[in-house]
Amino acid sequence: MKKCLVCENPIQSFMSFGKMPIANGFLSREKFNNEYYFEMEVASCSKCGMFQLINQPDKEQMFNEHYAFFSGTSKFMAKHFEEFANHVINDFITGSDPFVAEIGSNDGIMLQNFAKRKIRHIGFEPSENVATVAMEKGINTIVEFFDKTLAEKIVRESGQSDAFIGANVMCHIPYIKSVVEGIQTLVKPNGVVVFEDPYLGDVIKNTTYDQIYDEHTFLYSVHSVGFLFGLYDMEIIDLEPQETHGGSMRYIIAHKGKRKISENVSKYLQMEKELGLHLPETYNQFKLNCENSRKNLMNILNDLHMQNKKVVGYAATSKSTTIINYCGITTDHLEYICDTTPIKHNKFSPGAHIPVKPYEEFQKNYPDYALLFGYNHSKEIMAKEQRFMEQGSKWITYVPEVKVLS
Ligand code: SAH
Ligand code: TMP
Ligand code: ZN
Repeated sequence: MKKCLVCENPIQSFMSFGKMPIANGFLSREKFNNEYYFEMEVASCSKCGMFQLINQPDKEQMFNEHYAFFSGTSKFMAKHFEEFANHVINDFITGSDPFVAEIGSNDGIMLQNFAKRKIRHIGFEPSENVATVAMEKGINTIVEFFDKTLAEKIVRESGQSDAFIGANVMCHIPYIKSVVEGIQTLVKPNGVVVFEDPYLGDVIKNTTYDQIYDEHTFLYSVHSVGFLFGLYDMEIIDLEPQETHGGSMRYIIAHKGKRKISENVSKYLQMEKELGLHLPETYNQFKLNCENSRKNLMNILNDLHMQNKKVVGYAATSKSTTIINYCGITTDHLEYICDTTPIKHNKFSPGAHIPVKPYEEFQKNYPDYALLFGYNHSKEIMAKEQRFMEQGSKWITYVPEVKVLS
């Protein structure tokens, strides 16, 4: 019997998505035969409410010197993180020499806003290739996995931090208790923790099951994050929902009793109750919703294949790996996937081995249909793809429901 990674209560999977490859494991042809797969089963802990993967690949399988996700590829996200940083600077840190630490700082998309203002900062980023980009921009980066031991070392060398920030990384970490214990040590008594991750409430409401993939060990809720930080004498003091990544939640956390708690906290806890995040029925329904979504999407793709239409995928996102492999999308359905990230070009998608081509290929010869894997960037994409639609091609989306946009 597996145990909850947070409270160690026995947990049982309510659904398996089948054998899944590494979501960001874009690969060349000669690696096809050695591709790594794991059984992607999910559970929601009945004691602490933590939604989690039952099995996790080793962290070095995912985060290494070939990590394919460069945060800076999205201009929209760069703007988002500039606003995040300004919010931290204006509303949460005071004093003459503030010190800010970021977990999962990637290519420096967030910390560049602190570095520009000469604010003392440190980024923790174990994936060497993306960390190098940050260091070349002059951002202080430690190429290591953050945990309790590293936190203690930082406190010895640089003192405690005023703010500990992060985006789309806390949910990646199975050894999260060591990370939160590290945060408890690293953050000053009056300091704050501000981090955001895809939100379980949105995943359940919109059936965005593509948020579930190897890197996302957890899908957090206000309830489960409150439980986790409560283990280390910390508490949620405010919440700020975000539109990013198809629906995220920003958690603002402080040491217990140190800061005023906003009414938002009880409001969201109540909303989670109403949504039934604590009930097994909710997850059984979610499973049915996933199966329906898969059926509807495959009906469209199979029809277009029969009609010999040219269909491609738009943006080889990490999330698309779950959609492609769970639904059974193959090179029969998608000729290729276009993407703007050079490291993915001329490689193949994890699992289904659909070719990934540079974005220019798409612009040169528009397909009849494009399956919008990058729906979380749809504002940015729709703005730049006016011509694609004007000349008669169509988008296929699956969030919040499967349909062809006309
Ligand atoms: N914050 C960025 C990057 C998110 S991707 C953004 O939102 O765009 C997650 C990043 O976290 C990866 O770059 C990965 O290498 C890093 N990461 C994974 N485990 C980590 C850990 N224990 N400590 C620090 N960074 C970690
Ligand atoms: P993400 O959804 O995991 O953040 O991944 C974003 C991917 O989408 C990344 O590989 C770059 C790609 N992308 C495009 O190809 N075109 C675009 O216009 C945008 C915004 C992203
Ligand atoms: Zn639990």
